[in-house]
Amino acid sequence: MGRLVVLRIGHRFFRDSRVTTHVCLTARALGADGVIIADRQDKTVEATIREVGKRFGGHFSIESGKPWRTSIREWRHNGGKVVHLTAYGLPLPEVIQEIQQTSGGLLVVVGSEKMPGEVFKLADWNVSVTNQPMSEVAALAVFLDWHHKHNAFDTAFPNAQIRIVPSHDRKNVQQVEPEEG
Ligand SMILES: C[S@@+](CC[C@H](N)C(=O)[O-])C[C@H]1O[C@@H](n2cnc3c(N)ncnc32)[C@H](O)[C@@H]1O
Repeated sequence: MGRLVVLRIGHRFFRDSRVTTHVCLTARALGADGVIIADRQDKTVEATIREVGKRFGGHFSIESGKPWRTSIREWRHNGGKVVHLTAYGLPLPEVIQEIQQTSGGLLVVVGSEKMPGEVFKLADWNVSVTNQPMSEVAALAVFLDWHHKHNAFDTAFPNAQIRIVPSHDRKNVQQVEPEEG
């Protein structure tokens, strides 16, 4: 499978910082390789996500500020495909197999408020997670879970400093020895 990166369009500095942070955390936890926050630089969100990566491991990339058209154009130029998550798209169960068969990278586009109509034309697939309006965080989570065939619990996050030990009755966090990876 090629690289899978999420393109977050419509981020408004400060106002959307919390939701955009949740887009990034959800993308990372559910197996995406990175997020591009389009058009507006947000060094605070970038720093938060880098800190999570440093502590909990993995190779998740985060960048912000590049215009969304440039990101899509570069992605396609490098042979990748584009999935746009939208309530107006084709139902996920109808298109997921075709998307999973893509050998190149996948850019998964999610919006904030109204999406530019051009995105619908530039996408290889406009995909709906039900035809009801919902949160971009929820739509992204469902898409990634289906795309990665429910294997999020098996994802490795190398070079972590700490790891959560699952517990039925308390918070249990362990320091990871460097050689354990
Ligand atoms: C809160 S919605 C706002 C959508 C906006 N009202 C519009 O008409 O474009 C933000 C983002 O969530 C995603 N989204 C919302 N509902 C979805 C659904 N049912 N399926 C897939 N993606 C969805 C889309 O990426 C959308 O841009």
